[in-house]
Amino acid sequence: MFFRRKDSAPAPAAAPPPAAAAQSGDGKVSISLTVNGTPVTASVDARTLLVQFIRESQRLTGTHVGCDTSQCGACVVHLDGRAVKSCTVLAASADGGSVATIEGLAKDGKLHPMQEAFREHHGLQCGFCTPGMIMAAIDIVNRKGTTLDETTVRHELEGNICRCTGYHNIVAAVRAGAANMSGMRQAAE
Ligand code: FES
Ligand code: FES
Repeated sequence: MFFRRKDSAPAPAAAPPPAAAAQSGDGKVSISLTVNGTPVTASVDARTLLVQFIRESQRLTGTHVGCDTSQCGACVVHLDGRAVKSCTVLAASADGGSVATIEGLAKDGKLHPMQEAFREHHGLQCGFCTPGMIMAAIDIVNRKGTTLDETTVRHELEGNICRCTGYHNIVAAVRAGAANMSGMRQAAE
């Protein structure tokens, strides 16, 4: 059971409306999407949540389930480039979309700069919240830029709960990761 901060909020991202995935008579829905850049086609129950699809069908268990109230943020992934709580999204809603999970961040055996920052700044203890924290943090950088002050980071992470760290090192890691991402972007230009 996760402790809930008093100021915690169910951000980021409410579930988008279900897409027009084709539903058959047995309640199954055929979906096609990309997961970490790999095309995937599957038949899922219309009620299947995106987090179930990711963990149980795709076996990508880095995305965690830490609550049943849409509050902990352990399940955050990116859907079409935006952070979503995958426990609030139907898999059918992701039809035609692009999903990115924690497993897709490292490239060529090299950690993503945000992952590296969490490692360097000890932004985790048990690690349960960490995949969702990192996916949310990258989304923050994408929306808010690579220069983040502490207040902004704390406000933006209100939808992600950690029961171990007290948040201090997580905030430091996100700020450092944002700066690292700035360097990554400059190197790519
Ligand atoms: Fe807790 Fe999704 S599992 S917000
Ligand atoms: Fe253990 Fe965040 S819940 S490190």
